[in-house]
Amino acid sequence: MVPMNTRWIQAVVVLCSALLAAVAHTEDGPGCLDCHTADADIPVHVVFSSVHGNLLGGGAAACTGCHGPSEAHDRRGRRNPPDVSFGPKWTSDLEARNGACQGCHAGDKQLLWLGSEHEQENLACADCHTAHSQQDPAMSVELAGDQCVSCHSRQRAQMKLPSRHPIAEGKTACTDCHNPHGSATDADLHQVTLNENCYSCHQEMRGPLLWEHEPVTEDCSTCHNPHGSVNDRLLTARGPALCQQCHSAAFHPSLPYGAEGLPAGSSGSSNRNLVGKNCTNCHSQVHGSNHPSGARLTR
Ligand code: HEC
Ligand code: HEC
Ligand code: HEC
Ligand code: HEC
Ligand code: HEC
Ligand code: HEC
Ligand code: HEC
Ligand code: HEC
Ligand code: HEC
Ligand code: HEC
Repeated sequence: MVPMNTRWIQAVVVLCSALLAAVAHTEDGPGCLDCHTADADIPVHVVFSSVHGNLLGGGAAACTGCHGPSEAHDRRGRRNPPDVSFGPKWTSDLEARNGACQGCHAGDKQLLWLGSEHEQENLACADCHTAHSQQDPAMSVELAGDQCVSCHSRQRAQMKLPSRHPIAEGKTACTDCHNPHGSATDADLHQVTLNENCYSCHQEMRGPLLWEHEPVTEDCSTCHNPHGSVNDRLLTARGPALCQQCHSAAFHPSLPYGAEGLPAGSSGSSNRNLVGKNCTNCHSQVHGSNHPSGARLTR
């Protein structure tokens, strides 16, 4: 049993330290950590082992870096919400939500956020980014890809087609080609044009070549789907059909071909050389040629 006088002393000590804490608190800056302790109901201290751990000098000041000075909340806790809570009950004004991050991140890759497709679609920074974790999952190529396809189901399906960019294999990532914060081009590509995007990895395709094939220099995606395809080599159509979209009146054979190949010459009307062959068997340099006599893209 604890004697009466010891209890009384304990009570005084607790009261004094609370008063001292209150004084220290106003003098030494925010007291966020007095209530938001490491073992509180909502454990938020993991932020200290993240890149944001030393914000504004670290400690409780780091909290205010994102949540604002929150003076009223700091004094009374539960009764007044912090300036910036990011919680579901906080403002639905996206400019405010994102402004809390853009105060520090409005340059570099985030420069074109305002007006970007994702901003227009009401996405917030915190929809993709997690502040209270040691490593923000968005910064991991693999986890970010999972995030992307959780909304982009069409690309999720395309990634599983027989021919695809090796995203699942980890050799390419959505963010190698796209800037999720927006860019100056369609489809949020990092490069200024779609072809420049392709050349950034497929350098051997960059011209100029002696004999160019017009659709290639214009737009790789006329023949390739960058995400995936049922056809080999990410092609948008198979075999002769691909070429015949534009070369319907190619001089040698005048018959249209099926997707599987050239028609068998039962009627005698087709060129025997072409039977069962793909245009690319002869026109192998479909991306252009540097051979002096490569005008027909055959060498
Ligand atoms: C006096 C104790 C106390 C202090 C000091 C305090 N908080 Fe809180 N804070 C709380 C409590 C309690 C809650 C939970 C409120 C609830 O569940 O409704 C909370 C909730 C929050 C939330 C979540 C709000 C939401 O809507 O989900 C944030 C963010 C927050 N505090 C940040 C801060 C920051 C930043 C500071 C320092 C400037 C701070 N707190 C200081 C007690 C405190
Ligand atoms: C880099 C910005 C940033 C910093 C620094 C930061 N927070 Fe947060 N905080 C957020 C965001 C964003 C959320 C919303 C949930 C999420 O994305 O993790 C949040 C959520 C919270 C919540 C609610 C969590 C929940 O599960 O309901 C509390 C409480 C909180 N923060 C307190 C703090 C405290 C205390 C500190 C300082 C130790 C701090 N935060 C530092 C950005 C930050
Ligand atoms: C007070 C300034 C400040 C605020 C507010 C702020 N950040 Fe940061 N952020 C930084 C600094 C500083 C770094 C480290 C930069 C560096 O290492 O180059 C950083 C780094 C990051 C990184 C890179 C993470 C990594 O692992 O490399 C991400 C992502 C990020 N912040 C997202 C956010 C988000 C989302 C918010 C809003 C919830 C936010 N930041 C709010 C200052 C801030
Ligand atoms: C659609 C998801 C998504 C949204 C929304 C988003 N980000 Fe990011 N962010 C990412 C991914 C993925 C990365 C890592 C790959 C990269 O750098 O492109 C990243 C990287 C970053 C980085 C570190 C790289 C750098 O720029 O130095 C910062 C900082 C950042 N984001 C801040 C923000 C801010 C601020 C917002 C809101 C204005 C925001 N992000 C909105 C997905 C997103
Ligand atoms: C929370 C859901 C969500 C997440 C997560 C998300 N997006 Fe989006 N994204 C959308 C919506 C909605 C649109 C607009 C409609 C559309 O094009 O599907 C969009 C549009 C796009 C566009 C088209 C932009 C344009 O200008 O046409 C690209 C590219 C894109 N997202 C890439 C990404 C990448 C890469 C990631 C992962 C880093 C990602 N998205 C994560 C919802 C999301
Ligand atoms: C090799 C580069 C590359 C990779 C990797 C890539 N994309 Fe794309 N993406 C493009 C190009 C180029 C376009 C524009 C041409 C088009 O629409 O086919 C595009 C268009 C888009 C669009 C807008 C067009 C539409 O169909 O709505 C979305 C959304 C998109 N990509 C999401 C993603 C997601 C999610 C991933 C990861 C699973 C991803 N992309 C991976 C190059 C790429
Ligand atoms: C970030 C780098 C990167 C970018 C950008 C890129 N690719 Fe690729 N591409 C790859 C890689 C890696 C492979 C797989 C090569 C391998 O496995 O040998 C590949 C393979 C291919 C293949 C062959 C697929 C097969 O089945 O063999 C085609 C076709 C292709 N890419 C077209 C494109 C087009 C078109 C673009 C522009 C829209 C593009 N790539 C942009 C990295 C990239
Ligand atoms: C006129 C249609 C067409 C256009 C446009 C086109 N390609 Fe191709 N591409 C093909 C065909 C057909 C193949 C398959 C060749 C084969 O199987 O011999 C192919 C194959 C590829 C391959 C696989 C490797 C190889 O050499 O076989 C890559 C990589 C590639 N293309 C990249 C590109 C890039 C980058 C662009 C834009 C600069 C582009 N393609 C534009 C038709 C096209
Ligand atoms: C998007 C339309 C388009 C597609 C698809 C296309 N081409 Fe072409 N091709 C052209 C254009 C435009 C030219 C240049 C104009 C011309 O001479 O007819 C050309 C030129 C050529 C030439 C040189 C002809 C000449 O007169 O010098 C050959 C050979 C050729 N293409 C073969 C192919 C093959 C093989 C394919 C399928 C792998 C293909 N093309 C797919 C549009 C296309
Ligand atoms: C058996 C080989 C072979 C096949 C298969 C073949 N070509 Fe040719 N093609 C040639 C040769 C050789 C020439 C060049 C003739 C010349 O220079 O006079 C040519 C010329 C062309 C030209 C240029 C015509 C012109 O007016 O100058 C086009 C376009 C063309 N081919 C498209 C195609 C298309 C599309 C296919 C598939 C449907 C195809 N070729 C299949 C051998 C072939």
